Order: sequence, then C-alpha cells, then structure tokens
Amino acid sequence: MATQEEFAGQLLTTFNHAALAMMVSIGHRTSLFDTMSQMAPATIAEIAQRANLQSRYVQEWLGAMVTSGVIEVDPATDRYSLPAAHAASLTRAAGPDNMASLAQYFAELGGVESDVVECFRNGGGVPYEKYPRFHDIMAESSAKFVAGALESDVLPLIPELREHLQRGIRAVDVGCGRGLTMIRLAERFPNSRFEGVDFSQEAIRYAHSQAHLKGLTNVTFHAQDATAPLEADAYDWITSFDAIHDQGQPLEVLQNICRALKPDGVYLMQEIRGSSHHHGDIGHPLGTLLYAISCMHCMTVSLAQGGEGLGAMWGEERTRDYLTRAGFRSIERHELAHDIQNYWYVVRK
Ligand SMILES: C[S@@+](CC[C@H](N)C(=O)[O-])C[C@H]1O[C@@H](n2cnc3c(N)ncnc32)[C@H](O)[C@@H]1O
Repeated sequence: MATQEEFAGQLLTTFNHAALAMMVSIGHRTSLFDTMSQMAPATIAEIAQRANLQSRYVQEWLGAMVTSGVIEVDPATDRYSLPAAHAASLTRAAGPDNMASLAQYFAELGGVESDVVECFRNGGGVPYEKYPRFHDIMAESSAKFVAGALESDVLPLIPELREHLQRGIRAVDVGCGRGLTMIRLAERFPNSRFEGVDFSQEAIRYAHSQAHLKGLTNVTFHAQDATAPLEADAYDWITSFDAIHDQGQPLEVLQNICRALKPDGVYLMQEIRGSSHHHGDIGHPLGTLLYAISCMHCMTVSLAQGGEGLGAMWGEERTRDYLTRAGFRSIERHELAHDIQNYWYVVRK
C-alpha cells in the first residue's frame, strides 16, 4: 500500500501519461512519427515543413514528446530526433508493432464523457453515432490483429480450415465492421464465399465499396442486426471479432450463430481477455484500459440499444456460460502471442 505522498506522485505520473497518450494519437494522425523516423536530427521548422504542418503546433507537440522522453533534443543545436527503438513502436512502417494507432481511442472516448456522465446519473447508453471515428480506429486495429495475422496466427487455430477454404466453403463474419477480414479472405480464397453482417450502414457501405474496388464477386455484406436470423445450417465457418460483448442481445446473437452453423461447422470467436471478476483481473496488463474502454464504449453502446450492457470484460467464465446456453458443446480457448488483448475461442456444436 502506497503512502498518501507516494500515491499522489503516482497520480501525477498517471496524468502525465494520459496527456502523452493524447499527444501520441496526434503524432500518429499527423504522421509526425512517420516523418521524423525518416529524418536526421532536425529543427522544428524542418520537421513542420517535411510533415506539411503548422510549426507552432509541431513545436508544442515536440515539447510534450521531449518532456516525456519519446523524442530527444540536442540543446546545442535545437535539433530533434526520434530514436529508432521508439520509432519501432510508433510508426506505420512498424506494422503490427505500431502502438501509436491505439492511442486514438482516448480522444474518441473523451468525446463522449459528458454523455457517459449523464448515463451514470439517469441510465441508458451512448449510441454508436456519437463516436465519429469509431469504425476508422477499429478497422485500423483489426487490420493489425486479425486481417494482418490471418495466415500466421488465426487460420492455424483450426487445423483443417485452410484446406477447406481452398476447396470452397461458405463463411460469415458477424459484427464485421468495415469488413476488412472477409475481404482479405475473399481475395486469398476465391473458391469460398464470404459474407459480413453489421448493423452500421456506414461500415457496410465502406465494406461494399472496398469489395467493389477490388472486383471481388465472392464476398457480400448486409446491413442488419446480428439477431436477424441467418440461414439455418448453412455456414461451414462463422466468425466474430470483438463483436459479441457489445451486442444488445449477445445470447440471441450466439443462438443465431449456433443455428446457422452446419453440424460440422466451426465458430471462431475473438473476445476480450478477462476473468469475469474484478479481483480476477488484478494484474491484467491491460485491465484498467479495457474496463475504461468498456465503460465509455462497449457497455454503453449495448445499453443504448436497450441491450444487456455485458461490457468488454465479461470474461472467460461468462463467455463459456453464454456459449453453452446458446447450444455449443465444444469450446477451446487459445491465446495468440501477437494479441495480448484477446482470447480466441474455437467453438463447435
Ligand atoms: C468492436 S466492433 C468490431 C468490428 C469488427 N469485427 C472488427 O474487428 O473490426 C463491434 C461491431 O459490432 C457491430 N454491432 C454492434 N451491435 C450490433 C447489432 N446489434 N447488430 C449488428 N452489428 C452490431 C458494430 O457496428 C461494430 O462494427
């Protein structure tokens, strides 16, 4: 237990880190990290010019970056540099190791703080429409942890799957968002047919346009609620990627998936890693972050649908309980090294 003085010091550090997270998001969105990773030590004016940004803003951002130790400055020359070891976690070139994109969640969630406070007082929830960049940020994240890891990590979870996909199967992704994963699969496995379902018109329009641009004829997307009955006994493979816990009626969605799966089909569910108990999540490397995202997004968007408000941290015990109640018999839980935020469940009837 920390003394009062130690705890106050920890809080100060927390606020500094929270502020840094907002600045990291700006560094990502303005491509400042990408730009600086390509430059020798440079002045503020040089950095602003190369990044095509206003130098006064770049100057203030650099202040936050230098005081936090993310970027180095040489006081003798007033030249700034991004160490290569830091660029390896902050730039788009870092691919799946780029953590800067995750920092975008803070401003997105901060934008609904007053709405959430209102819900604390009067109940209800904050609808998806209040999160203007949600699908954008989510798609960036799933490009890394799902679509970008299909061949290396995700498909090998189901040993027979790759061969079946090559031969030709029917698959649907529930809560598909912008549909990136189904599009990647459709490109890679032309003999199989893929579908995506999501109630966001905006996300489905985006998915359609991408599939059309790529000239794909084996993938279709449907703007519908995930409780709307899917064709029964029709699918060899059903997926949901971080999409069950924020449903209005998660059990109904799982029952729908169970009905739609062929008797020998497989359901692959990526869901947030957690224990179903606050005390069980002490020491969780992302515990505070995930509860906060849940409170300010996952739980509240479900409540806004008049739903259950299960929350992101519903955890493994409750996940197993819901799957069993939905009619599934076999549940295997996997961890993938590239994705410390989620468990991967391979589920069969
Ligand atoms: C956390 S996002 C995950 C999106 C996508 N699977 C990904 O990994 O990028 C959850 C998705 O579920 C969708 N969703 C939430 N409630 C839904 C409902 N009742 N019916 C259909 N889709 C829903 C949202 O629009 C959102 O795209």
